Amino acid sequence: MRDQDMDHGDRKVFIKSYGCQMNVYDGQRMADVLAGQGYAETTRQEEADLVILNTCHIREKAVDKVYSELGRVREIKDARAGEGKSTRIVVAGCVAQAEGAEIQRRQTAVDLVVGPQSYHRLPELLERSARRRVVDTEFPVEDKFGFLPAPDRARTLARGVTAFLTVQEGCDKFCAFCVVPYTRGAEMSRPVARIVAEAEALAAAGVRELTVIGQNVNAYHGEGPDGRVWPLWRLLARLAEIPGVARLRYTTSHPNDMDRELIAAHRDLPQLMPYLHLPVQSGSDRVLAAMNRRHDARAYLDIVAAVKAARPDIALSSDFIVGFPGETDADFEATMDLIDAVRFASVYSFKYSPRPGTPAADAAAQVPEPVKTERLLALQARVEEHRQAFNAAMVGRRTEILLERKGRHDGQLAGKTPWLQTVQVDASAGGCRIGDIVPVDIVGQSTNSLFGRIDSVKAVA
Ligand code: 5AD
Ligand code: SF4
Repeated sequence: MRDQDMDHGDRKVFIKSYGCQMNVYDGQRMADVLAGQGYAETTRQEEADLVILNTCHIREKAVDKVYSELGRVREIKDARAGEGKSTRIVVAGCVAQAEGAEIQRRQTAVDLVVGPQSYHRLPELLERSARRRVVDTEFPVEDKFGFLPAPDRARTLARGVTAFLTVQEGCDKFCAFCVVPYTRGAEMSRPVARIVAEAEALAAAGVRELTVIGQNVNAYHGEGPDGRVWPLWRLLARLAEIPGVARLRYTTSHPNDMDRELIAAHRDLPQLMPYLHLPVQSGSDRVLAAMNRRHDARAYLDIVAAVKAARPDIALSSDFIVGFPGETDADFEATMDLIDAVRFASVYSFKYSPRPGTPAADAAAQVPEPVKTERLLALQARVEEHRQAFNAAMVGRRTEILLERKGRHDGQLAGKTPWLQTVQVDASAGGCRIGDIVPVDIVGQSTNSLFGRIDSVKAVA
């Protein structure tokens, strides 16, 4: 360690990530960069010398949250200043990218605004911001991932036995409601070798389940070690070869990029879990066209059927937007019909939120707020029925769970089924540890958990 690092060895950073899994991953990478500068991560904002809000711009509510949180952070900064301690405030993520200098106009306590493509430059930007406030929302030519340090063993272990790994970023699809193509830029895929090296480091530290992530992950087309372009299914097959990696998942996907080989991977790759998050947004062809989704409801149902033919026990989840401009009662009914046809295991649903700069924001036929609320509640009630039925069908069955953390009560551990259901088990029965994959009998269910009995003392993996 260099002298200058040792001087600052006791600095603390508090990172709060909002929004999607990519922000969770980015937050961890920022922590890794800052660890090299002598910053230890803390979960207590009051003791942090550096506060990073890693923000989300996808809906207006998410943006409002950032500004109200900044008000709170400022109060803590002021209180610490009264004790003679300085606090630096950084806004990162998609709000930083989209609003740039506007953030510092609205909240003068912010020292640095940094877009998602510049995290590898955090140390340098922080140093500059010590002298004057800085905004960096460039899309630099270099690939930030090439400069971000891989997590070390201790930090990986502390984060648990499941990990996200970004393999693709950005989106070229331009759905009419979405800011992502503007905030995260054009599609970019990381080279296979880099991803594999990172996955190997994660597995060596004890990670058992990898979720490869990207805004449009199934459009992945990274450079392979053979110099050719590898699609997602080849990357997944390669990751499955890494010793210790027992479970693989990927998210988020666009229906139009579910190619035949990727669907076949659900049949051929035992590590690939039987669960697919495939956003559809609406069940109405009219609305899908207006959203610029470039597929209709039939095409979506055909993909679902093909995936189920490849892997009959697969469960699906999806994203829906209600109240997109021009959505009628009949359009909404078509969405409910699609939901009934697929019976999703889980759904994320949102009221349409106009985003500045996106085509739909200016549409004349905005749906009134009370109608959006009514549709959202109806959709969520229907989805919840299906989710509960899906979970109830597990009771009486035997399955395998990956033990991920301590359970709700003393002596319990919590694990996940292949279908991402949380299972509470009595850990005293069988000497199992976090990271083991064990067979369990599912014996009961509550609203958000299943209860399981460990069937054997022997972990299966
Ligand atoms: N309004 C509401 N929901 C949105 N999403 C994306 N943009 C908007 C918006 N403007 C939802 C979509 C997407 C998920 C990540 O967020 O359902 O799949
Ligand atoms: Fe946004 Fe996803 Fe559409 Fe891309 S595919 S524009 S990330 S909703």
